[in-house]
Amino acid sequence: MAEVVIVADEDAAGALVADAIVSLIRQKPDAVLGLATGSTPLASYRALADRIAEERIDVRGVRGFALDEYVGLPAGHPESYRSVISREVVEPLGLTPELVRVPNGDPATIRTAGSDYEAAIDAAGGVDLQILGIGRTGHIGFNEPGSSLASLTRVKTLTEPTRVDNARFFDSPDDVPMHCITQGIGTILRARHLVLLAFGEAKAHAVAAAVEGPVTASQPGSAIQLHPHTTVIVDEAAAAEL
Ligand code: GLP
Repeated sequence: MAEVVIVADEDAAGALVADAIVSLIRQKPDAVLGLATGSTPLASYRALADRIAEERIDVRGVRGFALDEYVGLPAGHPESYRSVISREVVEPLGLTPELVRVPNGDPATIRTAGSDYEAAIDAAGGVDLQILGIGRTGHIGFNEPGSSLASLTRVKTLTEPTRVDNARFFDSPDDVPMHCITQGIGTILRARHLVLLAFGEAKAHAVAAAVEGPVTASQPGSAIQLHPHTTVIVDEAAAAEL
């Protein structure tokens, strides 16, 4: 059973996440962070940036791997996860850009992009701490319901509810890409520590299914129950169905 921590708000969660990452980096200056996009981890990234600045922590050796990317957005598109990770994580934290990777969603090289990404994670020695959000559909990364619990990084089709949820970042819902490349559930489970964050009532069902439901591919978040070291940090609203 995952350790579940109920906090007052996103800032309180951010302080806990920042604490965990700061102690990791102090022990291991070339720590490997697993980075999630979406709005959920933003307060954690802000709290971490503040701690790094206040305590003058040397993060130049810290490495990172993002969970996922859209397929087919032009390079430099502001909503590509490459751009989001640069803007929300690499720049504010002062990480070394070359040490932070995002799956490559370029259609020209997509056939080998998954295995290349797996090889890069292996070469880095695996992810030390993986930050996870969870989608309304129960997805982690972009592993939508039905994803194999043993899956590795690969191309997936986005579900309609996820495209609708993510349309807020694009000019029109039709601009949301149809496909993505995402770390698999098997990839995510290899990280040494999973930290799943969720806030707000819209996530309550997915959180309950992840933490207490049966382990099933129809609720990808439930795979966290297979991991020996998972911390779930939620606010009261997201904890409402636990
Ligand atoms: C996105 C991302 C996920 C994220 C989830 C929730 O589509 N691919 O990694 O956890 O959906 O997003 P949010 O945090 O904005 O609710």
